[in-house]
Amino acid sequence: MKKLIGKAPGLGVILVGERKDSRSFVRIKKKACEDVGITSVVVELPEDCTEGEVLEVVSALNHKELIHGILVQLPLPCHLSEQKILNAVNVEKDVDGFHPVNIGNLAMIGREPLFIPCASRGCIEVLHRYGVEITGKKVVVIGRSNITGLPTSLLLQKHHATVSVVHTFTKNPEGITREADVLVSDVGIPNMVRGHWLKPGVVDSKGSHVTGDVCYEEAILKASLITPVPGGVGPVTISMLLYNIVEAAKRTYQ
Ligand code: GUN
Repeated sequence: MKKLIGKAPGLGVILVGERKDSRSFVRIKKKACEDVGITSVVVELPEDCTEGEVLEVVSALNHKELIHGILVQLPLPCHLSEQKILNAVNVEKDVDGFHPVNIGNLAMIGREPLFIPCASRGCIEVLHRYGVEITGKKVVVIGRSNITGLPTSLLLQKHHATVSVVHTFTKNPEGITREADVLVSDVGIPNMVRGHWLKPGVVDSKGSHVTGDVCYEEAILKASLITPVPGGVGPVTISMLLYNIVEAAKRTYQ
């Protein structure tokens, strides 16, 4: 096995447009990389760039030897096909775990993805570190986005939880969340989950948005454990990204 000596792991980030939240997320990720000695390159493209231009950058990063992980910050402007662009990322550099091959392998029994999406992995990591058993437990995930809800529900099933997903079209969502032993929410609607949505003793793991989906003051009266926002799962999500980048780099030299 060749050793990763003298070669820092490298991350390539593609950031399209001027969204404040995306710019702030990318700044946080870049700083986290710097802190642990991961090299990062951020390629910024204007809001009105073409799909071809983004695909050219993806291809260039795919071919760069010292870029081990690639991250396309989402959401992309509407005129760009997220599907085409994410499909173009080399699956072995897909440190976000959003390539359909990685998501497919996450979904299938007996298969392992090369990378697990960072927020989903962060959620499981927090539950494990606090000794929350999830095998056989009723876990309700609020939201089914490609970034968090969907991969989190798949990963929880890989960890043998009984998973229900609540989304925009769900009738009587609070009737479903009240059954949950563990509730995971990352839809970005501040204080959507009220105290009466929760079963007493529930474990509540909220996502990485700036304001929590769960009304903290009401939930704290019912939950046995709750992750705060800011803090909580957000910083762990960033750690999982760093983990994925280092894994990608190590595999390159194995
Ligand atoms: N936008 C919001 N969260 C994420 C994330 O984890 N990865 C990427 N690429 N974009 C995001």
